[in-house]
Amino acid sequence: MKKIGVLTSGGDSPGMNAAIRAVVRKAIFHEMEVYGIKNGFQGLMEGNIENMDLGSVGDIIQRGGTILFSARSEEFKTEAGQQRAIEQLKKFGIEGLIVIGGDGSFRGAQKLTDKGFPCIGVPGTIDNDISGTDFTIGFDTSLNTIIQAVDKIRDTATSHERTYIIEVMGRDAGDLALWAGLAGGAESILIPEKKEDFSGILDRLKRGHDRGKKHSIILLAEGVGSGFDYGDRIEKETKLETRVTVLGYIQRGGSPSATDRVLASRLGARAVELLMNEQGGRMVGIQQNILVDHAFDEVFTKDHSINEEMYQLSKELSI
Ligand code: F6P
Repeated sequence: MKKIGVLTSGGDSPGMNAAIRAVVRKAIFHEMEVYGIKNGFQGLMEGNIENMDLGSVGDIIQRGGTILFSARSEEFKTEAGQQRAIEQLKKFGIEGLIVIGGDGSFRGAQKLTDKGFPCIGVPGTIDNDISGTDFTIGFDTSLNTIIQAVDKIRDTATSHERTYIIEVMGRDAGDLALWAGLAGGAESILIPEKKEDFSGILDRLKRGHDRGKKHSIILLAEGVGSGFDYGDRIEKETKLETRVTVLGYIQRGGSPSATDRVLASRLGARAVELLMNEQGGRMVGIQQNILVDHAFDEVFTKDHSINEEMYQLSKELSI
């Protein structure tokens, strides 16, 4: 394969730029040409495609966001949209495509692969919700952003002796809430993968209050429900003054952590190697610190699961 393309798609995540850099430099190292596609699959259909050289990815390893921009495209989900995309790829002579994004983006990549156009997925999302990889690019940075916020909220929570609910992203996955809850010493962690009895949450809060705790922190994954609804219920039932913070999009921004930069570099480079070996329809990942790759079909059929041992430990440490 002599000419490959790279795009970022779906919600951006810190470290995507480091992955783009790795793809471009690794490919050029192996004497391939690389094309950057702007605005994800939408830009691909529109032919928003540019040649990338070594300099085009200089000074980006430390930057959050994605220099290729990102989008969620409805049109690309249609047969006509996918045909338009393939026409553009042919026009530019591109023979293989690297898609940096999440589950939804890989479904698009699978469609192109099914139509004879090899695509490789690189998991980039803060949600850490993709099976076949222990970690996704951006998760570690996002987690650190959340922890900084939790520590700050903890200060004011203590001053005012309040209960705080901190709602974090993650879509249908609880990884951000679980890891942040454990790292931030939360009293309760509410995640979609585990049904928590509301009375259990109340009991823990009351127990803490009765033994003189000055504050309580609850980490709530957005997939469970609205922090404000939980806040109202808790205040009504416990009479403890309760506040809610929805962290929102600060979780998606910022300079990537060292861990995310290294992960992105390794995964981006491995994706190029797969295309060099004429492979397609696969996602690269990391499991137990070893680079792996799996067929998209496998990734789609297995549900991502949380770390049970960590969940149990979070319960034991918040008695
Ligand atoms: O998938 C990443 C993510 O940030 C989720 O955590 C969140 O639910 C979603 O994207 C928000 O999407 P949008 O940027 O379209 O509002």
